[in-house]
Amino acid sequence: MSNVVIQAENLGKKYRLGTLNRKMLGKEIESWWARRCGKEDPHSYIHDGCLNKPLKAYDFWALNGVNFKIYKGDVMGIMGRNGSGKSTLLKLLSRITAPSMGMAKLQGRVASLLEVGTGFHQELTGRENVFLNGAILGMKRREIEERYAHIVEFSEVEKFMETPVKRYSSGMRVRLAFSVAAHLSPDILILDEVLTVGDAKFQEKCLKKIEDTKNLGTTVIMVSHSTQNVLEQCNRAIILEGGRIVADAHAREAVEFYINSLDLEHPMMQMAGHVGARHGEILGALGTLLLNNLQGGSIVMHCPVQTHDGIRQVDVGWISEVRKRTLERSSAYSGAPDICVHVVSMERSLTEIHQSIPLLFKNGAVENWVCDMRGNLVVHRNRADVQNSGFFRVPENLRLD
Ligand SMILES: Nc1ncnc2c1ncn2[C@@H]1O[C@H](COP(=O)(O)OP(=O)(O)O)[C@@H](O)[C@H]1O
Ligand SMILES: [Mg+2]
Repeated sequence: MSNVVIQAENLGKKYRLGTLNRKMLGKEIESWWARRCGKEDPHSYIHDGCLNKPLKAYDFWALNGVNFKIYKGDVMGIMGRNGSGKSTLLKLLSRITAPSMGMAKLQGRVASLLEVGTGFHQELTGRENVFLNGAILGMKRREIEERYAHIVEFSEVEKFMETPVKRYSSGMRVRLAFSVAAHLSPDILILDEVLTVGDAKFQEKCLKKIEDTKNLGTTVIMVSHSTQNVLEQCNRAIILEGGRIVADAHAREAVEFYINSLDLEHPMMQMAGHVGARHGEILGALGTLLLNNLQGGSIVMHCPVQTHDGIRQVDVGWISEVRKRTLERSSAYSGAPDICVHVVSMERSLTEIHQSIPLLFKNGAVENWVCDMRGNLVVHRNRADVQNSGFFRVPENLRLD
């Protein structure tokens, strides 16, 4: 029990749709009386277009009877479609809103990064907000001062620290907010989808920081739509559907459950629910596609491309005859087929693949294709090389069917 840092017991949140909180006791009483008598709420703001009559307001459970335990050091992913209750759950855990039923117990200092700008005072400068946030987290001024330089450096907004936050772009706000939350050594770090606001490079940096934070024993809860991030960052994941938990498992199992529940065009279920099988199926289709579109040449499958920078493998590759002969003559193997195709599956990281692209080009690859599990292809072209070689033409953004 002592290791449980967060415990939700029958936790739920009900919203009343169709009414606005008018903050006037008289109107609240009229609304309450009308509901009691089973009549329409006179202050309902949803009107029937034709009759101009208020529609009946109704209760809506954004989160309904949720139970789970999160242990110290867990990195818990929260996934689910839009409106499934992810943000509501995080707001309840952050105590931004009160539950309509059940309860959530949390142990330790909590830092949350929810909607863009939450927790920042618009009129205060970046610097003042860092101190304000630290104080809210219960830190001493000296502790904040010690970390201030790191916070600013990480956020990359040093030039704007004396500017009021209301003048920041949403990207800048997220940068600073994440930096503050991650550097104030919280026991629990709660992150909503906000990270998607930053650019790809900053996202990478945040994920790395989350990894460090995790190693220091912080418990992390993060909402993410990226199966890749969840697989890389989280040890567990919860899947929400219509305000209820439909899966609470190891990250991999939960992600597979989620993908299957999405009912995609090419569900992995097709291949008896096995991800590897879908991967193999795509590899075969890509090999055929390359052979049909390119004249001559050879196909290499799962060929390891071991360079000093450590690229592990290309899933399917194509080598032209010209190139093959050059390679046979020369001992200095350039290390990459002309066309390299990576299949992004559960086992492969998209980041890793994207990082390898410049390196493959440097090693002589002419094209690099990235194929996702739904069969969408993205073609990256080493333009200079394409102009010089001209031994094939590949349609861009091909789709396997
Ligand atoms: N303040 C609110 N008032 C009424 N309904 C709300 C409120 N906040 C969220 N909801 C509703 O609750 C459901 C869950 O919302 P949310 O937790 O934001 O979903 P998610 O983050 O998973 O997309 C949605 O249908 C949303 O419209
Ligand atoms: Mg949300």
